[in-house]
Amino acid sequence: MSTVTRKLVQLIRSVETSDGAGVKLRRSVGSQRGLYLDPFLMLDEFGTDNPGDYIAGFPPHPHRGFETVTYMLDGRMQHKDHLGNVGDLGPGGVQWMTAGRGVIHSEMPLQESGRMRGFQLWLNLPSKEKMKPAWYRDIPAGEIPEVVLPGGGRVKVIAGSVGDVSGPINGPDRRLSTDPLYLDLQLLPGERFEQTVAAGHTAFAYAYEGGARIGEGEDARDLPRQAAGVLSEGEGVVVTAGDQGARLVLIAGKPIREPIVQYGPFVMNTREEIEQAIQDYQRGDFARAAA
Ligand code: FE2
Repeated sequence: MSTVTRKLVQLIRSVETSDGAGVKLRRSVGSQRGLYLDPFLMLDEFGTDNPGDYIAGFPPHPHRGFETVTYMLDGRMQHKDHLGNVGDLGPGGVQWMTAGRGVIHSEMPLQESGRMRGFQLWLNLPSKEKMKPAWYRDIPAGEIPEVVLPGGGRVKVIAGSVGDVSGPINGPDRRLSTDPLYLDLQLLPGERFEQTVAAGHTAFAYAYEGGARIGEGEDARDLPRQAAGVLSEGEGVVVTAGDQGARLVLIAGKPIREPIVQYGPFVMNTREEIEQAIQDYQRGDFARAAA
């Protein structure tokens, strides 16, 4: 490609952990204190055939100051929040939630057996948007455009654009300030895919089936499964699937470049704002925001 191709410069291997009421998951971005990829705070992959790993779900809990993006590959979850939203999230569906000044929600499995697989990404908000009203959208699989590649592979466009195909989030008519790109790639063995990624934006890829190489020629490096592969500065990325083919997510966004102070599900700019968030939550102000 004619633009400057990004290289794979760092691997953040995922570690097994649990969250909510004991849901087992693999965390890469955000797995250690301060291990952020501005504007991304966390990437969790969940994937299991064992109901014991997910059945307890995520009972009611708060968020403030950022966005959560849940992408289901297999299984069903139900979201309920203090604003009265109830949403069923099925295979291939996405839930985009802007916590803003505060959301209290639960995320519980709608199944007692079978496979549950997907991702949750935490996307930070700039200081001037951290206290905006909460916003929420359920996007069923049928509303996520899929581009069929010349080599036979497929790309689901969740946010941003592939060529002239735009996803339901961050399309040309409504740009988010972090300008996110979120693609789910399914490539056949040896298939090559090129994508423009805006200069200056943070970008990473995470393979969840098979494996791939990132970059071209002597600069190409393997992206193993279940690690966030951080990309160098550049304008585009070239992904080539390995012998088994590859399924991976490619995620990019504009860095916010502000201080981050995180206390669990509250992500603000200062300690004082975190203390305020805890006070507001304990006083019941999050719940009252619905009234
Ligand atoms: Fe949550």
